[in-house]
Amino acid sequence: MAIRQRVLISLALALALLVLAAFVIPWRSSRSAPAPAPLPSPPLAPPPAAAPPHIGADGIGDPYYPHAGDGGYHVTGYDIHVHYDPSTDRLEGHTTVTAQATESLSRFDLDLRLPASAVTVNDRPAWIHQSEGKLQVTPAVPVLAGAPMTVRVDYAGVPSSVPDGPGVPSPWVRTPEGAVAVGEPEIAAWWYPSNDHPSDKATFTITTIVPAGLQVISNGDLLGGPEPAGPGWQRWRWQESQPMATYLAFIAIGHYDIVRRDTRFGLYLAAYDRELDPQIAGAARDSVERTPEIIEFLSGIFGPYPFHQLGGVVPDAPTLHFALENQTRPVYGPVFFASGQDVSVVVHELAHQWFGDSVSVRHWSDIWLNEGFATYAQWLYTEHTGGPSAAQTAAEDYARYPAGDDFWRIPPGAPGDGVKAFNDAVYLRGAMALQALRTAVGDQDFFTALRAWATERADRNGSVRGFLAVLQHVSGKDVADVARSWLFTPARPSAPPG
Ligand code: ARG
Ligand code: ZN
Repeated sequence: MAIRQRVLISLALALALLVLAAFVIPWRSSRSAPAPAPLPSPPLAPPPAAAPPHIGADGIGDPYYPHAGDGGYHVTGYDIHVHYDPSTDRLEGHTTVTAQATESLSRFDLDLRLPASAVTVNDRPAWIHQSEGKLQVTPAVPVLAGAPMTVRVDYAGVPSSVPDGPGVPSPWVRTPEGAVAVGEPEIAAWWYPSNDHPSDKATFTITTIVPAGLQVISNGDLLGGPEPAGPGWQRWRWQESQPMATYLAFIAIGHYDIVRRDTRFGLYLAAYDRELDPQIAGAARDSVERTPEIIEFLSGIFGPYPFHQLGGVVPDAPTLHFALENQTRPVYGPVFFASGQDVSVVVHELAHQWFGDSVSVRHWSDIWLNEGFATYAQWLYTEHTGGPSAAQTAAEDYARYPAGDDFWRIPPGAPGDGVKAFNDAVYLRGAMALQALRTAVGDQDFFTALRAWATERADRNGSVRGFLAVLQHVSGKDVADVARSWLFTPARPSAPPG
């Protein structure tokens, strides 16, 4: 009897809580974008005024990119399907985003620059509105806090025709035979819908259908390809099963020479565009083929290689003026190999596999954790191969920029905005800052802290403050003064870094 009573009371309580929750929990919705839509008008009618008005956060909360992402859910996986015709640059896609709501959602956003035609949430059609790179989704039934949601988006467009802003070209790059989707911090929205911020990492499957005879290279494991996909078309399926930031997902489409072999770090797969000038192609191979031995060197310093595949891609994309640390398989602009080998850029992108990819920034203002560390790895490699020591390189670079030079105005620990985040100062002064911190705590504690950071935060995120806390914890030394003058002060520190 007593047990039955208790059960009844609990049931009544639970019911009362549910009813209360339905009234009390404010349905979250994002602010509508104020500016006019550059994309076609919304394909469906606006939603009925069912949800109580509530202005939620616009964006995930990144000060440098306030509109990026959405803080109302966490993505667990992306299942991307794209069909791409290089002759027209037309991309047709349907991507399924599996996520978990972190608050009750009457509306949420995905980042997508290509026009969407239809969206379902948990298999029911949703209302959509698209403007300024944001795809606003109003599900037929609100998603409760903690509940899983499956969002399918159908979309199509011409990615190279969508600029990155007034006068800023599309990051989607066409090549003689195909295209590459490579960019930082922005590229995802040109080929798939996402919660586009490195603090929301997820696993990926990437299926691409292209004209028969072309290759598609992407992150992680090759599940299948080329597979028949209708007359004249072939399908390539890739999978990244470790969490990955949205900007690190890539596809390269073209005619590639592919090199594959097993290594003790996993399957090595590199791809060289057959359209490359033969001299550039040769220098590219001489550099990128060093990947396994460079990973061997770096894992001796930073700890175990964080992934199970490795490689690199060199597209024939003369306008790609950078290299990017795409997870497991960096992409290198051919410009790096125009005057011969460049092993240093390979070291840089591979160091990012630990610092940037496995341990990702919490906010874009933490970019020193990526670029300062990858640059410092280049200095360590130079020293390892008989060049000047990292301390000498740091001293030379310090001497190269006199006090008063603009170089010193950007503090790498807090560069100030999204453009300054990729300034030389973040790379070079950022690496000098590591040398200064190394001098302050001593070699043993410095390298122990680097390994601890890479291991403890593997597959997750970190902040500049978090790294300094680890360094301080490992060494038992107060690094606040060194950090202040090297990372956070917009002026030249009074003494060289070591
Ligand atoms: N993370 C790339 C590298 O250091 C840089 C990408 C360039 N992005 C930019 N916004 N400039 O190799
Ligand atoms: Zn870098």
